[in-house]
Formats: sequence, C-alpha cells, structure tokens
Amino acid sequence: MTPFTFQTCPNILFEAGASAKLPEIVAALGARRVLLVTDRGVRGAGLTERAEAALAQAGLHLGVFDEVEADPPAAVIEAATAQARAGECDLVLSIGGGSALDTAKLVAYLARSHDRLDDIYGVGLARGQRLPLVLVPTTAGTGSEVTPISIVTTPTSEKRGVVSPRLLPDWAVLDPDLTLGLPPAVTAATGIDAMVHAIEAYTSRHRKNPISDQLARQALALLAGHIRTACRDGGNGEARAGMLLGAMLAGMAFANAPVAAVHALAYPIGALFHVPHGLSNALVLMGVMRFNLPEAAGLYAELAPILDPAAAGLPPAEAAGRFVAALDALCRDCAVPASLAAVGIGEADLPRLAADAMKQTRLLVNNPREVTFADAFAIYSEALDGRARPVPAAG
Ligand SMILES: NC(=O)c1ccc[n+]([C@@H]2O[C@H](COP(=O)([O-])OP(=O)(O)OC[C@H]3O[C@@H](n4cnc5c(N)ncnc54)[C@H](O)[C@@H]3O)[C@@H](O)[C@H]2O)c1
Ligand SMILES: [Fe+2]
Repeated sequence: MTPFTFQTCPNILFEAGASAKLPEIVAALGARRVLLVTDRGVRGAGLTERAEAALAQAGLHLGVFDEVEADPPAAVIEAATAQARAGECDLVLSIGGGSALDTAKLVAYLARSHDRLDDIYGVGLARGQRLPLVLVPTTAGTGSEVTPISIVTTPTSEKRGVVSPRLLPDWAVLDPDLTLGLPPAVTAATGIDAMVHAIEAYTSRHRKNPISDQLARQALALLAGHIRTACRDGGNGEARAGMLLGAMLAGMAFANAPVAAVHALAYPIGALFHVPHGLSNALVLMGVMRFNLPEAAGLYAELAPILDPAAAGLPPAEAAGRFVAALDALCRDCAVPASLAAVGIGEADLPRLAADAMKQTRLLVNNPREVTFADAFAIYSEALDGRARPVPAAG
C-alpha cells in the first residue's frame, strides 16, 4: 500500500445547541480574554447571541471583531489581528462561514507568532505558535473548521492560500441549529462547494489515501442525500445536520487529499467578480468534470452509484457519464445559476480569468488531467454561453 499521512482537528463536538457549551471549552483551554471573529450578517442574524451571552455569564472577557468580508481581504485579517493584540486576547473564537473561520485562523496565528501575512502564503511556511482557536461553522460548505487552510484575497485581487497544520483549530464545534436560517441560494452554493471538496479529494493526484477516500464517499452520500431538502425546506433539522456533517467530512478529506482544477478555475471568478465561493465552483464544475473524463472516468465511475444507484455495475465510461449527469441535475434542482453570463461576466473577461487560473499551481498539480491556458480558456468559454472560441495568446 502507498504510504500516507492524515491529519485533522483533535477535538470535535457535534450537537444541536452546542454554542451553549463554548464557555466550558474555552475555559478548558485556559483562556480569559476571548476575541470573537464573525461578520455582520452572521451577528445580525442573531447566530452569535447564545455564545456571547454564555461567555459573558461565565465571566470571560469578550472582544468582538464583526467586520469580516466574504473572500476575506488581507487588510481585514490584519485589522482583526491588530485588535487581538491590542486587546491582549488569549483565545480566538469564530462563529461564521468560511470567510470568518479563515480570518480567525490567521488572526490566531499572526497575533501570537508575529509573522507577516505576506511571508506565509503557500504550503508549510507558517511554523510559529498560535493562540488557542475554536471554530464554529454557520454554513455547511467549506469545512474550514477542520482544514489547515485559510484563503485570502490579496490587494492585487488574487486568492492565495496559507496551508499549515498550525491552522487546524483546537476544537471544531458544529451546531446544525446555526444553519437553519441559511437562505436557499447560500445553502445550494455552499453545499455544492462541499460536494466539490469530496469529489476533488477522491480524484486528487497527490495524497489521496484510504481515509480521505472513505470520508469523501461518506460526505458525498450525506450531501447529495440532503441538499435538495435543505434548499427546499431550510427548517428541516435532519437535512441541516446531514449537510453540516457532510461538509465537515469533505473538509477532512480535502485537507489531506487536496482539491484541484474546479477550485483553481473558481478562485479567479471569486477574486475578480466577488461571486460567492460555492457558486464560483458550481459555474465551472461541469466543464472541468467533462474535461477530466478521459483521465478520471474510473474514479468518477466509483463514485457514480452514490449519486445514481442505476450506475452500479455499468462499464466505467458509462457510469462516469451518469455521475456527471447526476451532478448537473442536482445543480439544476437547487436552482444554481448555470452560466458565467448570469453573474455578469463577459467575453472580454475570459483571457484574464484563464491567465489567473494558471497561477493556481498549488491546486492544478492535483488535477487528474493536466490543464493548460488553452484548456482553462475553453472551459470558461463554454461556461459563459456554451460556445467554443479561438484561444488568445497566453497571459
Ligand atoms: N479554509 C478552507 O479550507 C476553505 C475551503 C473552501 C472555501 N474557503 C473560503 O471560504 C470562503 C467562503 O465561505 P462560505 O461559503 O462559508 O461563505 P461566507 O463565510 O463568505 O458567507 C457568505 C454569506 O453568508 C452569510 N451567512 C453565513 N452563515 C449564515 C447563516 N447561518 N444564516 C444566514 N446567513 C449566513 C454571511 O453573513 C455571508 O454574507 C471563501 O473565502 C473561500 O475561499 C475556505
Ligand atoms: Fe471550496
């Protein structure tokens, strides 16, 4: 068997209403001065209320940074870090979507290590100490609560990752009640992000292993089994719990078997056009999967019966085709916008998107099929309006 390593978050609590237990968790980590990192949407929806009240009641000092923006810009992370230092915080708690969690992970690291954000982009460069860290997701999408990754939007509108085991939190606290009010469009987009994590982990060229494979399969079953109900009937607790668990398992999988071209092509859409991360993924998903078919049909065929039981036992090429078709149907059922044009992207934007996607080398190396500038351009072109166009000179 091929040797492998597997890392994840050491402590997980999954329970409806779990926010009420945060004071115990925080106290056990020895903290007195907590910085809560969140965004105004999450706080405005009342999702931090229970935790804030419980922490205050337990006599803990609580500072709040609620200015996280989607696809967090570096400047926001630096401002939150300055607040953590000025408030002499000894623990960072985050309640929110991937944007808040990713911000909090870097705040906990930068406030304690005194490294500069610019110096730690990439894999394994954050090697210092961090403050204790507790993460509470409110979307069932990124799995950030169990990944060693933070994604930052740089001042030049690029999305760059910091990847380091130091970014895994001490505790991931999952409370499906916090996701009950997630609007259908966000439920769909973040849920598809999680499904892409599972699929790309399963087909990753590097570090795919028996544990990540099982996690990816289980994640895909939960997410595909619950996403339609969660979109249609957001108050369904069972569907919400299934989505939150599925997103976390997918996070554990891709934290160890990294994602690939869907994410590489999605990042420029998010960075340049502020399209939510899950939707950016959904917009290029079909194009990338069809592109990958010649190399990935065997692996897609293995996953196919999870989405379409009738695919079991079919020849690999046929089963893989059914897998792609089943995903396409799922995106349509969840009313995910189907084209780049629907999010305001035009023909003139395609060369820049393709050029920026090619910079995502950290991700592209994991793709089952090599992606060139011309390939990326062709995938974007098809995602715009279904048409093929002549490929311009690279760059
Ligand atoms: N660290 C990782 O491993 C990883 C993986 C994938 C994506 N990401 C990053 O995560 C970010 C995306 O995170 P996201 O998709 O969770 O979205 P998000 O955190 O950007 O949140 C999207 C919106 O949903 C709102 N929201 C969140 N929870 C809500 C709830 N329960 N009810 C109502 N509204 C709610 C927020 O206020 C926000 O307006 C991107 O920056 C992406 O690059 C990180
Ligand atoms: Fe993602």
